[in-house]
Amino acid sequence: MHVDDPAFWRAGAISTVLVMSVVLIMLTIDTLGAISAGSARVPAYAVINRHIDYKFDAKRGNDVPVITASEPFFGKAWEAAAAEALIEQGKLVIQSRACMDCHTFFGNGAYYAPDLTKAWLDPAWETWQAITGKPTREEAMAAFLMNPEMYRTWTRTMPNLGLTEPEAVATVAYLKWMAAVDSNGFPPNFGRMQKK
Ligand code: HEC
Repeated sequence: MHVDDPAFWRAGAISTVLVMSVVLIMLTIDTLGAISAGSARVPAYAVINRHIDYKFDAKRGNDVPVITASEPFFGKAWEAAAAEALIEQGKLVIQSRACMDCHTFFGNGAYYAPDLTKAWLDPAWETWQAITGKPTREEAMAAFLMNPEMYRTWTRTMPNLGLTEPEAVATVAYLKWMAAVDSNGFPPNFGRMQKK
């Protein structure tokens, strides 16, 4: 075969496409494994029943979620299937209200309001617990989400999006689960800025 023979280029193109298709399929399978709930970096949905922290890991050079003891969520332990259904509902609430029009999730979305990836871990919820008079973080978050204009803490005010209580509970579950996802330290220095 010679370089001025079109068959040479055709064979080259076809074999390149075939090889790269196989590579693409392998990468897709690998990615699907890495982003599924219950994998190394994305915890199973029942993680909402555990205490979640965010600590600096010197070896990795970034913050990592630390998942520790059992912790009731809205006063109870959720079965795996119930936790999954709740988080699925939370996702639908987030999509239906287009929270991304103002917020970012894993850095995707708009920059009008704070990134929500680690919102569950925000030290500011202690202030929100005080102003909403709620005994737990999840209840304070739900109260805020149902009445954000009443419990504002920032220069910008979040509008009331008409969340019902079950919708607010589901959204908080989604936010708690998301905080437990190992996002390679994103967002960096989360929660330390306010503390300083
Ligand atoms: C029109 C813009 C806008 C939309 C849409 C919006 N938010 Fe907000 N959100 C804000 C602003 C502004 C703040 C800061 C308000 C404050 O601190 O008082 C905020 C704050 C928050 C906080 C507190 C974050 C933290 O840790 O400080 C959470 C949680 C939150 N929003 C969740 C949501 C969810 C969930 C949705 C969709 C159901 C949503 N937001 C839709 C503007 C918006």
